[in-house]
Amino acid sequence: MTDTQTFARDIHKGLSAPLKHISSKYFYDDIGSGIFQDIMKMPEYYPTPCEFEILSLQGDNIIGKLNFDRPFQIVEFGAGDGIKTRQLLKKLVERQVDFTYVPIDISSKAIEELESNMLRHLPGLHIKPMIGNYFLMMEELAASKVPSLLLFLGGNIGNYEQHEVAHLLADFRKCMNPGDYLLTGFDLQKNPATIRCAYDDPRGITKAFNINLLHRINRELGGNFKTNQFDFYSHYNPVNGEVRSYLVSLVPQKVHVQHTDKCYDFDRHELIWTELSKKYTLAEIEDVATANGFNVVEHFMDCKNYFTDSLWTL
Ligand code: TRP
Repeated sequence: MTDTQTFARDIHKGLSAPLKHISSKYFYDDIGSGIFQDIMKMPEYYPTPCEFEILSLQGDNIIGKLNFDRPFQIVEFGAGDGIKTRQLLKKLVERQVDFTYVPIDISSKAIEELESNMLRHLPGLHIKPMIGNYFLMMEELAASKVPSLLLFLGGNIGNYEQHEVAHLLADFRKCMNPGDYLLTGFDLQKNPATIRCAYDDPRGITKAFNINLLHRINRELGGNFKTNQFDFYSHYNPVNGEVRSYLVSLVPQKVHVQHTDKCYDFDRHELIWTELSKKYTLAEIEDVATANGFNVVEHFMDCKNYFTDSLWTL
């Protein structure tokens, strides 16, 4: 199946469901990745600076926990712009540690920019970028016997439902050998107002990020969404730690998509669910690790305790 066929199939399935849904993996085309860069620059969006602080100030502590006896690789799933990761890599390059950085991202534009930026800042870095869906890359990684630190940063794991977290961690485990590590970012529960503001900014950048999903269906699948007839709504439930984001149809409307050869009906105020961003407690993180066959080595947190990069072994 081509990428377009997969996209068409997923969109058809999502828009035919009782609660319409578009998978958040479709946020990150080249345009969406660009808007996400703008989200990360918003003052309200605390996860990025918090994780930047962790990787800058605690890089030495993180590295100190790694126990590799030969050259290793650092494999990053969903590398994005890599600015945060660079803080950690810098420490290793400065110490002349022998390792290869393997960033994987679905956006070829993001990967190209990442590679040139990394090499500009860290000329001595060994980098072997991979473009594509990381689930498909996992098989290739599983076959490699090079000791590895896997990175899954940015609170990405919060975008998975509980049962999907189990699958994801099983996939990670499959490409790990004894002695390998996994460093995962988790956004922590905090004052609910802080979380709400991070996911619904007054300038409409987050809205544009969500509306881009509809533009993308128009561009790639021949859809005829009138994007000004949709709004954005986001809700944080502090009881279970879940932010859920939605597009809202402002009028009753029909949308046709050429690639699926179907019309989709929207009622007035009907929702398209776009993303789950789950916020964790430390106790929940420890439960997730243990339930999925990992041991927590340490939680590395920022000074406000908003975010953690949690280091696990098998
Ligand atoms: N995965 C990011 C997150 O959960 C993406 C994101 C940021 C996002 N803001 C959003 C997704 C608002 C939907 C709505 O933090």
